[in-house]
Amino acid sequence: MHVLSVVGARPQFVKLAPIHEALVAAGARHTIVHTGQHYDSNMSEVFFDELAIPAADVNLGVGSGSHGAQTATMLAGLETVFLDHSPDWVLVYGDTNSTVAAALAAVKIHLPLAHLEAGLRSFNRRMPEEHNRVLTDHASDLLLAPSTVAVENLANEGLAARTRHVGDVMVDIAHLVRDSVAARPPELDLPPGDFALATIHRAENTDDPARLAAVLDGLAATDLPVVLAAHPRLVAKCAEHGLALERPGVTTVPPLPYRSMVAAVLRASQVITDSGGLQKEAFVLGTPCVTVRTETEWLETVQLGANVLVSDPTQIAAAVGRPMPDTDATPYGDGHAATAAVQALLDAS
Ligand code: UD1
Repeated sequence: MHVLSVVGARPQFVKLAPIHEALVAAGARHTIVHTGQHYDSNMSEVFFDELAIPAADVNLGVGSGSHGAQTATMLAGLETVFLDHSPDWVLVYGDTNSTVAAALAAVKIHLPLAHLEAGLRSFNRRMPEEHNRVLTDHASDLLLAPSTVAVENLANEGLAARTRHVGDVMVDIAHLVRDSVAARPPELDLPPGDFALATIHRAENTDDPARLAAVLDGLAATDLPVVLAAHPRLVAKCAEHGLALERPGVTTVPPLPYRSMVAAVLRASQVITDSGGLQKEAFVLGTPCVTVRTETEWLETVQLGANVLVSDPTQIAAAVGRPMPDTDATPYGDGHAATAAVQALLDAS
């Protein structure tokens, strides 16, 4: 079996690591194509190095751009790559522009398409990620769902026959890295006592200057010192809108490599984020989370009391400090999702 993975953005490199390992273990051939959507070293290369992922076989070097221009450039480049490699499966990850571009390129030339992290829904059609994941799910031949909620969402859209519930590969890698961090802690410059670890990067929080200012004020209003790992979109938008990123009580650091992120989540007493991946990592690593959004795709974290949604930034401070619930629920699987995903690919080949 020859699987061609298409990745482009930071969370996809994290998911790629356990999938690559499982494909190698199964004796499959794996071609890695990087669209170049994320290109800064600390958004891309560092993940490949740290997670021992081989360098991409192809890097399209697409870079940043408007949604249409970025997706179109990827689509054209990927079609040529797919025709050259003619894999048994094109495997796409999550909900980024790289994902939807690869999905379209694959179906147009009749290559079998599998979607890892299928079935997530925010039901918010203004989010670029929501278009990307709905279109990708409906284009795919095999839907690898991370949770029962995702399985139900796919069934509600008539996609049950193509769905396999495999669990979430981010749990696989979070478990592995948690253990490696315990054995060999990374060097981190973090406050000595309690602190909140924050990330903000979603368009709905960064692109409107009034909203962005309110979110940054909301972080500063919390009782805990806040360490804000600043995504380049956040830095760029603050500069564009003339907003100061650092405020009293808020220290910014560059985006963290994965091991440092896991170590920081373990050390933090609170996570505040709008990232999907970090909501789940906080849950898996046992740190309570406040999510600065009106909805989440990871409903189980909220239902279990580990995550609170806060859409009004003035309410962030009040939501911080809830204890982690005492639960041993594993709604995203037991850390063996990558093996299950590869088995599903083999079964459907
Ligand atoms: C993308 C995904 C989002 C995912 C996120 C993870 C889409 C629509 N969004 O959002 O779902 O949660 O990745 O991080 O695909 N930039 C750099 N260097 C980089 C990458 C980006 O400076 O290496 C800056 C540029 O100003 C760019 C902006 O960040 O315009 C946004 O990057 P982009 O890849 O368009 O989207 P993300 O916000 O990263």
